Amino acid sequence: MSAMNLIARTAALLMVGFGLASLGCEKPSGGTGGGGATKSGETGTPGSPKEDGDAGQIVIGHYASLTGSEATFGISTDNGIKMAVEERNKAGGVKGRQVKLVTLDNQGKPQETQTVVTRLIEQNEVVAVLGEVASSRSLAGAPICQRKGVPMISPSSTNPDVTAVGDMISRVCFIDPFQGLVGAKFARENLNLSKGATLYNRAQAYSSGLNTNFKEAFTKMGGQIVSEQAYSDGDNDFSAQLTAIREQGPEFIYVPGYYTEVVNIARQARKLGITVPLIGGDGWDSEELKNAGDALNNCYFSNHYSHEDTRTEVQEFVKKYQEQYGKVPDGLAALGYDAARLLFDAMERAPSMSGKDLASAINSTQNFAGVTGAISIDENRNANKSAVILEVVNGQPKYKATVKP
Ligand code: PHE
Repeated sequence: MSAMNLIARTAALLMVGFGLASLGCEKPSGGTGGGGATKSGETGTPGSPKEDGDAGQIVIGHYASLTGSEATFGISTDNGIKMAVEERNKAGGVKGRQVKLVTLDNQGKPQETQTVVTRLIEQNEVVAVLGEVASSRSLAGAPICQRKGVPMISPSSTNPDVTAVGDMISRVCFIDPFQGLVGAKFARENLNLSKGATLYNRAQAYSSGLNTNFKEAFTKMGGQIVSEQAYSDGDNDFSAQLTAIREQGPEFIYVPGYYTEVVNIARQARKLGITVPLIGGDGWDSEELKNAGDALNNCYFSNHYSHEDTRTEVQEFVKKYQEQYGKVPDGLAALGYDAARLLFDAMERAPSMSGKDLASAINSTQNFAGVTGAISIDENRNANKSAVILEVVNGQPKYKATVKP
């Protein structure tokens, strides 16, 4: 993407809000005819199972947390992907062939992730895999895709290690060293804060990595971290950590966790008399944030997109998604949509559907016009993109600022 394009896009966003000084089910649904209602979210041509292996259809896989404490991540992403598949099929498919999507639920578990990714490749014989949202689960799925030579595109995992697994693995989002910097700049320069605490999930690659990235950036800018506290998967009582944080009197708490945890942390913090803002990352992105009531007012998180962005691509996507699903698309829906469309674009360009050809077409993508911005896959198979800062107002994300890479 040219610098001018970036500036134009950013300018459009800035008009909506304040400017930020430029900173730098388990159902192996290959068996469509397998009967029974499935959670598999299968779309594409309603074919019979025998068509699966046909040259007629192109089968792609998606592994996702359709259930569990991060269920909105998987559901939103799948909604976005389904929309992209349906649009593409209506327009004639890819190379004249219809695309069939097989989605398998990993229940938000790394172990289950390995099972379903293996199944997508071995039983459903997918030519490419989309997934996951959570970095720890992408890290569980990626080595399998790499070993089997099947390209995997993560829509939204931001931990740098994900694409480092190998040349079959790419992503359409920015990575956490940037996201940590974005949060630090916002706290330091926009909110003018110098004393922070952090509270993160030590069991999640995303959370612990982003905690480190934030801390490093914030202290480099002259800020001070007065307390650093951790929790683990499944924890729902954060009072010990919050009490320890309260004793140090920080001006804000950085919480790089997922929404279910964030809602609990916010409510418990307010109960303990902690009134300072919480600041977080993309892991907050969920309609479930509303469960925090007003406990998250005056709180902010970095994300990949704002539904308030006035760009035509965004507004058309938001309108269509709302018609189809009856709600405003979150960033995950937008990234799922972008990942699928980028994959189709690469398929069109690839000389064959072999893993090698497909991966090299994906990896050479430049300036793909995504809802979440122009996507160019760099030499590390990551995307260099702007981030937005959203403010939580009664549980709803409101656009606040854009931060360029
Ligand atoms: N970036 C998070 C991770 O790597 C996942 C995420 C992306 C969650 C976007 C919400 C929105 O784990």
